[in-house]
Amino acid sequence: MSSPGASSGLGEAASKYFAQLGATVVLGARRAERIKHLAMEINSNGGKALAVTVDVTKREEVKGLVDSAVKEFGRVDVILNNAGIMPLSPMDRLNVDEWNKMIDVNIKGVLNGVAAVLPYMKEQNQVRSSILLLSQGIKYSLVRLFIQQLNLPFVP
Ligand SMILES: NC(=O)c1ccc[n+]([C@@H]2O[C@H](COP(=O)([O-])OP(=O)(O)OC[C@H]3O[C@@H](n4cnc5c(N)ncnc54)[C@H](OP(=O)(O)O)[C@@H]3O)[C@@H](O)[C@H]2O)c1
Repeated sequence: MSSPGASSGLGEAASKYFAQLGATVVLGARRAERIKHLAMEINSNGGKALAVTVDVTKREEVKGLVDSAVKEFGRVDVILNNAGIMPLSPMDRLNVDEWNKMIDVNIKGVLNGVAAVLPYMKEQNQVRSSILLLSQGIKYSLVRLFIQQLNLPFVP
């Protein structure tokens, strides 16, 4: 399982949980030390984990994360898109840079993940393949509306 956004919060907890259930997890995030530490923790508890530094706004880095999963473990059955940000401010403050950052991480980051796994999932048994979304913001957000249009499973 590839897990971008695993260095803290929901993504960290979900990655640990799936590792406990027996999933091999490839943990991704920008904070390398945190995911390395989490990988060590999972491995020392009998699980299987690898840490790969990734910024989900960079397509090549997300591809690198998924490529590492396949190189190390032979296949990728699940991508758990955890990376998410939710800077909050009144709209009339015009924090346009923050709006764009949310689109880069919460929307384009998901699309980069989909683009990275789909070629492998097409080659594999599709019945076992899943694209899951976590940490993608509040119930009525534009991000959620966009993600729904992709017709992918949504974990609120
Ligand atoms: N906590 C909740 O109860 C809850 C409920 C509903 C929705 N949400 C939403 O879900 C999102 C995450 O919540 P959280 O509590 O899990 O937050 P968090 O602890 O800040 O976790 C966010 C994760 O996303 C990663 N991330 C952010 N930008 C990234 C990037 N460019 N590339 C790669 N990874 C990136 C972070 O890793 P690095 O910084 O190391 O890269 C971190 O692992 C937020 O948008 C929040 O509003 C949270």
